[in-house]
Amino acid sequence: MTSRLSSRRLILSQSAAVIGAASTGLLLPQIVRAQSSKVRVGFMLPYTGTFAQLGVAIENGFRMAINEQGGKLGGREIEYFKVDDESEPSKGIENASKLVQRDKVDVLVGTVHSGVQMGIQKVARDSGVLSLIPNAGVHAATRGLCAPNVFRTSFSNSQPTRALGQAMMAKGHKKAVWITWKYAAGDEAFEGFKESYTAAGGTIVKELGLPFPNVEFQALLTEIAALKPDAVACFFAGGGAAKFIRDYAAAGLKGKIPLYGSGFLTEGVLDAAGPAADGIVTTMHYSDSLDTPRNKKFRLDYAKAFRMQPDVYAVQGYDTGLLLIQGANAVKGDMASKPALYKALESAVIDSPRGKWTMSKSHNPVQDIYLRVVENKENKVLGIAAKALADSGAGCKMA
Ligand code: PHB
Repeated sequence: MTSRLSSRRLILSQSAAVIGAASTGLLLPQIVRAQSSKVRVGFMLPYTGTFAQLGVAIENGFRMAINEQGGKLGGREIEYFKVDDESEPSKGIENASKLVQRDKVDVLVGTVHSGVQMGIQKVARDSGVLSLIPNAGVHAATRGLCAPNVFRTSFSNSQPTRALGQAMMAKGHKKAVWITWKYAAGDEAFEGFKESYTAAGGTIVKELGLPFPNVEFQALLTEIAALKPDAVACFFAGGGAAKFIRDYAAAGLKGKIPLYGSGFLTEGVLDAAGPAADGIVTTMHYSDSLDTPRNKKFRLDYAKAFRMQPDVYAVQGYDTGLLLIQGANAVKGDMASKPALYKALESAVIDSPRGKWTMSKSHNPVQDIYLRVVENKENKVLGIAAKALADSGAGCKMA
């Protein structure tokens, strides 16, 4: 640390002598940083807890995109920093500050959990550090608290479920129970479900919830059995989702009351859930079986590199890498050249394994949402449930 700091100081003074009076003091540190140092990339992701495998998949995907470009960003080497955020909202600000203040990252990549993201959002807004959100869908990040330096490469929490209601009504399921973890991601996923299901003529007979990351589902499943709805819709993810799927079957509900969900329910959990997952229908901005050369190559390369199958989280991490590459190339690695960098990120077209997508004005993907069903440990695409779906971005005013 000490030697890095002192050598940086030395470079600063040498450059000052060379550039001399022609440069303004304001520009100098940016130029020196761009030319002399590595791009500092910080991962703030869950590496423990119910979302641990989501964090790993995001990092894998990100590194894969960068490695496909020779491991560089805009011609510069990269130095990586990592913090395990434990999906713990109360440590969100402190953990993000570690990367920004202590590690002086040029870009913060994180995170998964919506509550933790609110901490990152505060630090990003206060410090101005470039913040790329590879999962967490919390509405505020690209609505009321949107910022010029914050870009999301994943979804907003209500985006996937805004395509779910019509699909359930098309199957004749007129009365549904909703169940979720009670925190921003579950509540905002409900918003999308409620809007789409009631607009299509459905009735939500009961909303059920339990605190994140609780997995004691038994009493709630007993309640669902007693309510006898036509269908159940839900938001769960990660390790908790695998347990919910198994418990749903073990409670005797599988085959009796069809289970639907925001697609995270069946992402990265199909080995752990086993046959209990077969037949679950979900809506999501990705599907394993998308029959495009882009997706097939991605899946093959990912499986070779990491000896596991990719999921939506891996795709989101990969797309975060693709986005950053486009930005870094546009400014030739000078990450301090912010207006040009943000302009490139805003106008990027991402050629993703999920299909091409663009950034909305509030910095959230405009993307197709697929209808999928689980068959033999794969999310099989049934069709497009919503074409080029954008989040409303309500209340977003870029500073
Ligand atoms: C979130 O907290 O925003 C979240 C977490 C896991 C998911 C999706 C959203 O799979």
